[in-house]
Amino acid sequence: MIGEESKDFKVQKDLFKEALTSDFSMSEIQQIWRQILDHFLSISPIEQISMGDHQFSLQESKIINGILKRLQNKEPFQHILGEVEFYGLTLKSDARALIPRPETEELVDWIVTETKTIPSNILDICSGSGCISLALSQAFQDAHVYGYELSRAAIDLSEENALALKLPVLFSRVDVLDIKQFTAALKKQTKLGPLDVVVSNPPYIPNQEKEAIEEVVHKHEPGMALFVPDEDPLLFYRSIAEGILPFLSTSGVLYFECHYLYLENTRNLLLELGFTNVEKRKDLQGKWRMLKAQK
Ligand SMILES: C[S@@+](CC[C@H](N)C(=O)[O-])C[C@H]1O[C@@H](n2cnc3c(N)ncnc32)[C@H](O)[C@@H]1O
Repeated sequence: MIGEESKDFKVQKDLFKEALTSDFSMSEIQQIWRQILDHFLSISPIEQISMGDHQFSLQESKIINGILKRLQNKEPFQHILGEVEFYGLTLKSDARALIPRPETEELVDWIVTETKTIPSNILDICSGSGCISLALSQAFQDAHVYGYELSRAAIDLSEENALALKLPVLFSRVDVLDIKQFTAALKKQTKLGPLDVVVSNPPYIPNQEKEAIEEVVHKHEPGMALFVPDEDPLLFYRSIAEGILPFLSTSGVLYFECHYLYLENTRNLLLELGFTNVEKRKDLQGKWRMLKAQK
């Protein structure tokens, strides 16, 4: 633990690094350190370059030490910061929804680069913080973008994000595993036109993997955003794909983020349901992570 008297820049930084080496890589620690100085102490990245002989005030040391304690208690840095960068947007981030992941940015990028005709209607299912729908609303400013989500808390967070970013995404509370409720929502939604793009990053981690998940994830992120029953890991994919099929436009496209171990099974499921041109893609970690399918 860093003592309150440790105010010399180098001493404080070295102790900070040392305290976190067992939980973070050196480059992550550097990045967290830089963001703490920028965000909490208002020391810009430019100013940080030439502050080797800086003496932290007692107040500044207290702030750094407080954050260090929270990190050691396995609180995600995004929650401490209260925000996260996602596909060029700054989103509010807290315990109400899953922290948006880099692989989900890759999914958004696939949609943005592959969509040649501006879509009229886009639906993000299991919308969480709103990261996917808000990024698509920013990319396709003439599209109507909707998000379906079961958690009231997550919807509140996504609406706060939409308001802060001035992006007109409409979020609704829909249980996509309740086929009656899901179909009723889709019927209402598509009165003005069918869906051109549907995307979902649903819960996909089998319960049996809980043990192997980092403490920082299972202690601070909502379980309902992550886990599915071991005996039916495709539960969400089946309900979503079956449910939306009648509501897709003739050239409508469905995108899924998947568990790399179940990508082939999900692909087969889509083919069995009558989807065509089912394409798969790896994430930057080299894991099969995404699917794209046409009606
Ligand atoms: C993996 S998270 C994805 C969140 C966000 N789209 C993202 O990419 O960060 C899955 C989301 O599905 C929501 N969810 C879980 N069960 C649901 C259900 N039955 N109907 C609708 N949404 C559900 C969770 O609350 C969570 O926000």
